[in-house]
Amino acid sequence: MIIVIIGAQWGDEGKGKVVDLLADRFDIVSRYQGGHNAGHSVYVGDRAFVLRLLPSGIIHEDKTCVLGNGMVIDPKAFFEEIDQIAEQGVEVSPERLKVSSRAHLIMPYHRALDHTSEERLGNEKIGTTLRGIGPAYEDKAGRRGIRVADAMSPEILKLRIERNLEEANRIIVLYGTQPLRADEILAEMTPLVERLRPFVCETSHFLAEARKAKKKILLEGAQATLLDVDHGTYPYVTSSNPTAGGASVGAGIPPHHITGVLGIVRTYATRVGEGPFPTEMLDTEEPIAHLIRERGNEYGSVTKRPRRCGWFDAVATRYAAELNGFDSIALTKLDVLDELDEIKVCVGYTINGERVDTFPAVSHDLRQIEPIYETLPGWKSDTLGITEFDRLPVNAQRYVRFLSEHVGVEIGLISTGPERDQTIILKDSVMEGWFTN
Ligand code: IMP
Repeated sequence: MIIVIIGAQWGDEGKGKVVDLLADRFDIVSRYQGGHNAGHSVYVGDRAFVLRLLPSGIIHEDKTCVLGNGMVIDPKAFFEEIDQIAEQGVEVSPERLKVSSRAHLIMPYHRALDHTSEERLGNEKIGTTLRGIGPAYEDKAGRRGIRVADAMSPEILKLRIERNLEEANRIIVLYGTQPLRADEILAEMTPLVERLRPFVCETSHFLAEARKAKKKILLEGAQATLLDVDHGTYPYVTSSNPTAGGASVGAGIPPHHITGVLGIVRTYATRVGEGPFPTEMLDTEEPIAHLIRERGNEYGSVTKRPRRCGWFDAVATRYAAELNGFDSIALTKLDVLDELDEIKVCVGYTINGERVDTFPAVSHDLRQIEPIYETLPGWKSDTLGITEFDRLPVNAQRYVRFLSEHVGVEIGLISTGPERDQTIILKDSVMEGWFTN
């Protein structure tokens, strides 16, 4: 069994908790795109883990984790994270963490270029995490990137750093920043790369063998559908493909070996960084946005930026369901809406007075959207920690059913709090099968 987990909105849907829950039933958890721009919070008892680069399965000591070929890996961030979770009592050895020899490395000049690119864009900036993700993928597509396997050869590493830095420094200097030095980068990278060596693996072969041996594999997407470089709100997107097709390419797994796709959807929407957000709560609704931000702790787990908050967008989520082929949805953060009198759901768009039921490609059009809302009554009572659907207040049940009907996919799991046991698994759902098989 191979299941892909993907955020349906603009990220931060609460994937960490769901992956962590499902990881119990799986043998291997693999990421397939992105890098340490992600931020997953996982709570286990009184321990809170923030994972950026490592799959959420890493905190289960009996799981093997994989960083797939589609990822971009900053070696410094990689070991900082390993050392951080070791301090929290979780040891990570090369036996249970495999890094693809085909993944690309993020170098210090990628970070510098991320800064200069954002500065250059001024008001049009993307609002990136400034981790060097975009420039590393640019080098990959430009066929000059440094792959993990290349870095294992000291001569090739030196040559590539020198050659790439020459080019990067031209841009860095143009924007008034001090040029970086190849010898300093090499001195920083050499010990990190040596420490990385035992983790390096032909991961697609490893995953193919694992599948043959009937191991269960979870493919964990980072970022989310609407941040996908092809399908998201371009250019306000990340530089990789979080959508289901990206899982096949980025983990090196044939598409027909993937057995199911799980969408993670939050009961409301948020977005960090710039870019169109049709259902964003603006001025008059700021008190509601504030309430959601505080109750839902909607601050970036990596950057600490306050997240923009908005109403559930059924058009965008339906688009995500169609693109990824969701078999089931995990609906997160239901309890965050407990205090609201009324809850709005966007069920359609108008652009320049015309009704539109699909998600427009052009970010300019996305900014012109006027959402068509339906308003549902709130439930005004505590749902924190409820574990059975029938125990939810009737209006909360109605809200969940309404979302499922408008997105066109079953809701198989509802999260009613950050802890593992604050979860409802719907009977007879596809999701229940994934938990029990
Ligand atoms: P980058 O991935 O750092 O290039 O940033 C591109 C866009 O994706 C920015 O709007 C970021 O805020 C957003 N982004 C990147 N990673 C995440 C994430 O894990 N959650 C939410 N937004 C993200």
